[in-house]
Amino acid sequence: MSTLERAGLSLLQKFDPELAHGLSIQALRSGLMPLPGTYSTDRLRTSIAGMTFPNPVGLAAGYDKNAMVVRQLARAGFGFLEVGAATPKPQPGNPKPRLFRLTEDQAAINRFGFNNDGMDAIARRLSSHRARVPVGLNLGANKDSDDRAGDYCKVLERTARHIDFATVNVSSPNTANLRDLQHAEALAALLARVIETRDAQKTRVPVFLKIAPDLDGSQIEEVADVAVTAKIDGLIATNTTLDRSGLKSAHRDEGGGLSGQPLFEMSTRVLARLSKATNGALPIIGVGGVGSAEQAYQKILAGASAVQLYTALVYGGLSLIPQIASGLDRLLEENGFASVADAVGSGRDSWL
Ligand code: FNR
Repeated sequence: MSTLERAGLSLLQKFDPELAHGLSIQALRSGLMPLPGTYSTDRLRTSIAGMTFPNPVGLAAGYDKNAMVVRQLARAGFGFLEVGAATPKPQPGNPKPRLFRLTEDQAAINRFGFNNDGMDAIARRLSSHRARVPVGLNLGANKDSDDRAGDYCKVLERTARHIDFATVNVSSPNTANLRDLQHAEALAALLARVIETRDAQKTRVPVFLKIAPDLDGSQIEEVADVAVTAKIDGLIATNTTLDRSGLKSAHRDEGGGLSGQPLFEMSTRVLARLSKATNGALPIIGVGGVGSAEQAYQKILAGASAVQLYTALVYGGLSLIPQIASGLDRLLEENGFASVADAVGSGRDSWL
């Protein structure tokens, strides 16, 4: 990390976390932040669901909710980006405060509740970004919707022309009862509608399903079965957790979803179980607590074809991205892997 980045990060830590997040978006928009550009090597180049990522380290949903800084983030070293969540109508989300730093735990708790500018504004921004890496959109449902499954379809229909993939997010803990859509029957019906909507579009957008880390073994198997039967293109494991075990920070009892380091083991175990249950039928993107090259490598060994991160950026800054990508390249080489694909799932058993 450069001295400038360290000074910037420690300044941001002095502000309220949501304000700091807004300032970091403004800093990116200003164009004054030095960005390293795309990072790639032959070993890191990864193909998933018909897309090619220059490296398998992506930005997780929730940082650029409104697609404000896609072009800038694409130059920060990520191999792919996920923006959103976007809902059909704009909505304000939950009352503030709704984002908390848990610095001693290198974690965060958020209960934003899908605050976003709505699909029309987000589609307009996505139509003009010209990013050099694949850009996906996290799909959400409005809080007051009486047809939540229909909301995912509306957002997909409105944005399909402008995105490289879409994620059905039924795993946010901050919209009441949203996670009920993970139950087999509701999930099968939802995915069937989303896939039907996708197939009716001119461009074929790969559809991913993002799941919660709080599912038990039989729920994971159920989700895996439904996902394979629905012929979606991949899975994302995992969203934030409701679990609060072992936390030290003052804000540990705030309501919402926990992300960052304490989520790493739990989400990697869910990833490994999902990988076993799908038996390689679907690519999985591993997310939850990735903050180092070693952790990205562990997710790949557990069964991930690519990884995403968010919370570690709060503590480590954007320079973490090329650092993780280059460190991952080195770890793959040292362990005799010619590509990311060669390593996927090769250490899964130790996570089961
Ligand atoms: C998130 N996350 C998230 N996920 C999602 O699918 N849709 C969303 O809108 C959001 N919003 C969001 C906001 C904030 C402030 C945070 C911290 C997280 C979850 C995120 O994409 C990821 O799954 C988890 O944060 C775990 O990864 P990290 O943060 O431990 O790397």
